[in-house]
Amino acid sequence: MNGSTVSVSLNSPQFLARNSFTSSSKLKTDTSRRSLGICKCVSSPPTEQTAYTTKVSRNANMAKLQAGYLFPEIARRRGAHLLKYPDAQVISLGIGDTTEPIPDVITNAMAERARALSTVEGYSGYGAEQGEKKLRSAIASAYYKDLGIDESDIFVSDGAKCDISRLQVLFGSYVKIAVQDPSYPAYVDSSVIMGQTGLHENQRYSNIEYMRCDPQNGFFPDLSLISNADVIFFCSPNNPTGSAATREQLTQLVQYAKKTGSIIVYDSAYAMYISDDCPRSIFEIDGAKEVAIETSSFSKYAGFTGVRLGWTVVPKELLFSDGFQVAKDFNRIVCTCFNGASNIAQAGGLACLSPEGLKAMQSTINFYKENTQIIMDTFTKLGFDVYGGKNAPYVWVHFPDRSSWDVFAEILEKANVVTTPGSGFGPGGEGFVRVSAFGHRENVLEASRRLSQLYN
Ligand SMILES: Cc1ncc(COP(=O)(O)O)c(C=O)c1O
Repeated sequence: MNGSTVSVSLNSPQFLARNSFTSSSKLKTDTSRRSLGICKCVSSPPTEQTAYTTKVSRNANMAKLQAGYLFPEIARRRGAHLLKYPDAQVISLGIGDTTEPIPDVITNAMAERARALSTVEGYSGYGAEQGEKKLRSAIASAYYKDLGIDESDIFVSDGAKCDISRLQVLFGSYVKIAVQDPSYPAYVDSSVIMGQTGLHENQRYSNIEYMRCDPQNGFFPDLSLISNADVIFFCSPNNPTGSAATREQLTQLVQYAKKTGSIIVYDSAYAMYISDDCPRSIFEIDGAKEVAIETSSFSKYAGFTGVRLGWTVVPKELLFSDGFQVAKDFNRIVCTCFNGASNIAQAGGLACLSPEGLKAMQSTINFYKENTQIIMDTFTKLGFDVYGGKNAPYVWVHFPDRSSWDVFAEILEKANVVTTPGSGFGPGGEGFVRVSAFGHRENVLEASRRLSQLYN
């Protein structure tokens, strides 16, 4: 085994080539890299050829993954830009991390719970893996009132991303998934890690159905083109396109799942950003409880990206082909892979769902929605075709006939603004850039000024 493995470090030419930045032969020197506006990724040192190796083979599924996960890759490029221009005032509208402080009503509840842990009466250790009963009940009544979702259908978690991976463990290696193209990268990457896919070729993994969502189809896929998917990941409002599916479209999706026997994993992490009558939950659609799981999060509502709290709904009506309840297996996974969300975070979650907390979350969301409007107006005035924004904190900007990574590099190089290249979300994102509305107001205004200057 020793000597036969080819290691590709993040700063090797192979890594650059696999990212399709440009061909490795053009990248012989740092100078030529710089002149092409391409950063050399320096965050991981090259593997030492002489290092001791264990007898353990690398997980072959990990080796199938394309370079870095999208957002760490963007962070690396931002770091490289700062190395090149140490004084640059870089504004990040890229990763989609929240920036505004958590409202007091929520942090006060967490502080109180934290202080109580120092008292004999207030101390608590491990809690229920599924979450505290009070919080499960509050989630059921805040988000699923009259939809027939019981508090026992709700599994509180440390965030939707973690639950996406737990759901993949639940389904195992022998299912075929379908994803919106473009989509949040965690669905595809967790599928690869689970061994559900083949290799990556022509920008796609084999054994994944990529459901194209573009301006031509109103960002809702042609379901008749899906062949044989077991699990359909569907995110609405969508990250990255910012578009939300209508009631008619989601009815179509549920009916399709019922007809084909598939399970929908519905990601509603941005549902509270919806301002028209698009459904906030898949369970608003008749029959969805028999075909769908929903995962969601406090991250983008309450600024909990660092606190970590989310939930997943697995209705008892959802059954595997042998009649076994999906929720029972998910419960087993949760009890095996997770020991419950932090009790302090859960106190925060409960405060989020109090009348004052709900008001405070909505006002944070409204702030980000005003940012969204500023970004949309900027690109619209510049003559770009702009999508999303209305029901989501993301603006999806079209740069026809251009590579997304090139546009990303151009905006970073010339405006010191970090965006996200659309192709990082799947082949359907090529030619687009995602601009996130998470940012302090002055930064969003300044970024808009710089973008106007760049593209005027
Ligand atoms: C669509 C979508 N789902 C899930 C997540 C992850 O959420 P969490 O912070 O709860 O893990 C994100 C985060 O950006 C997201 O965009």
